[in-house]
Amino acid sequence: MASHLWLPFTQMAEFDAGERTFVAGAGTTLTDIRGRTVFDAISSVWVTIHGHGHPAIVDAIATQASRLDHATALGASNPVAEELASRLAAVTGLDYAFFASDGASAIEAAMKMSLQYWRHVGEPKRSTFVHLRASYHGDTVAAMSVSDIAVFKREFGAVCFESIVSDDLAMVLARDDVAAVIVEPIVQAAAGMRIVPRTAYAALRSIRPLLIVDEIATGFGRTGTMFAFEQLELAPDLLCVGKGITGGTLALSATLATTRVYDAFLGRTNDLRHFFHGHSYAANPIACAAAIATLDLFVSERTMAHVAELERHLSRALTPLASHPRVREVRRAGLMCGIELLPPPAWDAPVSYGRHVASELYDRGHFTRPIGETIQLVPPLSSKTHELDSFTTELLATISA
Ligand SMILES: Cc1ncc(COP(=O)(O)O)c(C=O)c1O
Repeated sequence: MASHLWLPFTQMAEFDAGERTFVAGAGTTLTDIRGRTVFDAISSVWVTIHGHGHPAIVDAIATQASRLDHATALGASNPVAEELASRLAAVTGLDYAFFASDGASAIEAAMKMSLQYWRHVGEPKRSTFVHLRASYHGDTVAAMSVSDIAVFKREFGAVCFESIVSDDLAMVLARDDVAAVIVEPIVQAAAGMRIVPRTAYAALRSIRPLLIVDEIATGFGRTGTMFAFEQLELAPDLLCVGKGITGGTLALSATLATTRVYDAFLGRTNDLRHFFHGHSYAANPIACAAAIATLDLFVSERTMAHVAELERHLSRALTPLASHPRVREVRRAGLMCGIELLPPPAWDAPVSYGRHVASELYDRGHFTRPIGETIQLVPPLSSKTHELDSFTTELLATISA
């Protein structure tokens, strides 16, 4: 049967749906159309937190769907979004939550909030954005404009706007035209789990431009704390979360703001100071219910204590890889690991060595997706130590073959 499906970041001329079609997910595993069950070693690209099909989240979704599936958030509220906003405020230390859908739309909202903020407080000249080297903030136009992965944006120069890229933030922050600095905290996942030098963040502790922290990949426990910015002692003005917020079940993202930012938008309707941005599914009650259930599980399942145990285990399990001749570098921040491979000298196969290794790993029961030559291991927070051991053992066996 001819397929009418077009997949993201996928060469459709080479894609084989018979090889890679998932039909079920349970706990830390996915099952494909051929009946093979594999460990989801990338949490379905950094979204799955407590495992696939967790009964508490499934129940919350079903209950909410039968009560109120959706009602617009444009000029109207719903109790589930209200509760989630206060839960997120409590867990992040910021004050207000503006909901969107995917991560990139939370970034767009944060950037537009920054621009509108500076106009409202009388500094309209502040309209430039600063970002780190090797950054990635999503595929929509503003998010792409502050991203630095050339291959993702090289066709889209016509719509991207100029921004300032620098790891030496102290230098650029002295400028009087900077609206906001946007950073991924500790680790840049899309850059192949690049660990950002801590010194890059030092200049951000007390700055005049707004600080946007993008926790879309790192949020909800993946780096060993609930949010990575806690480890950097940063105080974001705007915080973007997505991916894991619903435990990896439904599209939901949020841009959290401090009172300082929020208050600058207050006035009378006719003043036109309210935030000019919104999406159809903003504050969707079903997604918000999934997010509340996800936060509850962090407490009832003592998830962060388990993450600490997994971290200790991983640092040992990765050691033999670090010294292997086919490994250039092992990078890890909490449960976000990148194992950068060194292709054999005569490697001339039509696919990269990283893709070859990932495909072998699939046959050995582990699903990962390489970033260039970097093999990722970003397991669900509910993973068992033996699953991590199995992944590292099979990876060692593959690159030793
Ligand atoms: C740090 C970061 N920001 C933003 C995004 C974009 O999120 P989404 O794919 O949900 O739009 C991603 C996606 O991988 C990400 O890693």
